[in-house]
Amino acid sequence: MSETDPNRRMRIARQHVQTDQLLGIASVPQGEAAAPPPLDETAEPAPAPAAAAPTDSTTASTEPSGAVPTGSPWSAAPELDRAARQQLLEQMDRDEVSCCTKCPLSEGRTRTVFGEGDPDARIMFIGEGPGQNEDEQGRPFVGRAGELLNKQIAAMGLEREQVFIANVVKCRPPNNRAPTPAEVDACEPYLRRQIQGIRPDAIITLGGPATKLILDTKLGITRLRGTWATYDGLLPTGPQVPVMPTFHPAYLLRSYTEDNRRRVWSDLQQVMERLGMK
Ligand code: URA
Repeated sequence: MSETDPNRRMRIARQHVQTDQLLGIASVPQGEAAAPPPLDETAEPAPAPAAAAPTDSTTASTEPSGAVPTGSPWSAAPELDRAARQQLLEQMDRDEVSCCTKCPLSEGRTRTVFGEGDPDARIMFIGEGPGQNEDEQGRPFVGRAGELLNKQIAAMGLEREQVFIANVVKCRPPNNRAPTPAEVDACEPYLRRQIQGIRPDAIITLGGPATKLILDTKLGITRLRGTWATYDGLLPTGPQVPVMPTFHPAYLLRSYTEDNRRRVWSDLQQVMERLGMK
């Protein structure tokens, strides 16, 4: 079916209005709510149902090389003020991530995508990896999936700038494939330090690869979404962080059923309840 097919455009516009309703957005300006996003299916990485989870022991809670060494500025991050933590994050981006060559993804990238948001955020969203738009702009979730994520954040009563948005891998996998276990392993220490620095009250993992990494599990997202779990990667010196797994927005766009939209909204509401935002 063509992108300009009026029936398809109408259907998508209707679905977006329904999403707004399901997500509790009552006051989206008409034009915005009705405008269907561009239909470039290739612009977002496919949230792969097949795991990109590490298969060896170098996972979130046990890998010594990723641990935050005592005495490093990162171990004190939770006590630092927002500006100091912002500085630590910027430093990691500038001195380590932006010039990283730890895995072959570095060869194909245009820009690294460190992540962005409030270093004091109560909620951290973790996606899979940059797609084409993100690779070009160096910012997370700026394509179609990002539009939906923005709506979800707004529906939670938050501005995008109030949360922190990161990915499992900081460089775009070619052809939007899922990152390999080796690529995930190479990038994991960056994500762990981001979590260490931000110390969110809750992590929302978006899709299978992020959920598998953060929960160190091989179980699929369909089994795990909607149920609270914990991130243990800061132990033994840091706290466990509550984790709510949910579907990736790109998956939701592809499987845009009322049931799926309700599921995601219910997952987000659980987070709002736990954090006293309702
Ligand atoms: N999908 C992701 O998982 N991350 C992004 O940054 C964009 C799309």
